[in-house]
Amino acid sequence: MPLTIDRVDLKQRAVLQSLMNMYLHEMSAFNEMGVDDDGNFEYKHMSCYWVEPERHPFFVRVKGKIAGFVLVRDIDSISGDTIHSIAEFFILNTYRRLGIGEEIARIVLNRFPGKWQIAVQEENRVGRLFWKRVIWRYTGGKSHEFRSGDWDGTVFEFRSPGAKPPEPGPLSE
Ligand SMILES: CC(C)(COP(=O)(O)OP(=O)(O)OC[C@H]1O[C@@H](n2cnc3c(N)ncnc32)[C@H](O)[C@@H]1OP(=O)(O)O)[C@@H](O)C(=O)NCCC(=O)NCCS
Repeated sequence: MPLTIDRVDLKQRAVLQSLMNMYLHEMSAFNEMGVDDDGNFEYKHMSCYWVEPERHPFFVRVKGKIAGFVLVRDIDSISGDTIHSIAEFFILNTYRRLGIGEEIARIVLNRFPGKWQIAVQEENRVGRLFWKRVIWRYTGGKSHEFRSGDWDGTVFEFRSPGAKPPEPGPLSE
């Protein structure tokens, strides 16, 4: 199944907001959230995704059709390294439990080599199981899990080697 990610253009912001509404409605099972007068869940960092170079918004597509979205955010660590993180990750119901989320996660992790931290809220059991399994398989078990002091959740820390170069073909004369 051809799976791709493509950067969300500012012109497509309304499409991202529609998907965000579905995502935040699902997340409202864990956080108290309500909609504004237009019926939208407010995502306060939305505008930043087209202004701040450390934020990267992507649509997920299956055979060209929108199947979800991923928001990546780069954070500067105290030591000066960049740490990549997943701000939000969403796959539409129709496409779930088919391995699509995992394949998309691998595409995203390959695209941003280096240090990663992915934080998942404790109550989001499925999200936690998903990231635990995906990161375990991606790193071959070389990841570190810890709990953040002021927040009820798990943080997974690991490194992405980036996309592996293609296997060299046979030598020709
Ligand atoms: C979490 C989410 C992205 C998973 O997407 P998906 O495409 O269904 O996931 P995959 O099919 O690629 O699953 C990969 C692995 O994750 C785990 N997993 C996924 N969904 C699961 C579920 N409902 N229950 C238990 N484990 C689950 C499994 O280990 C699975 O591997 P397996 O099928 O070999 O057992 C999707 O359910 C979603 O968008 N949820 C709402 C938003 C959210 O919670 N995002 C994550 C936190 S930011």
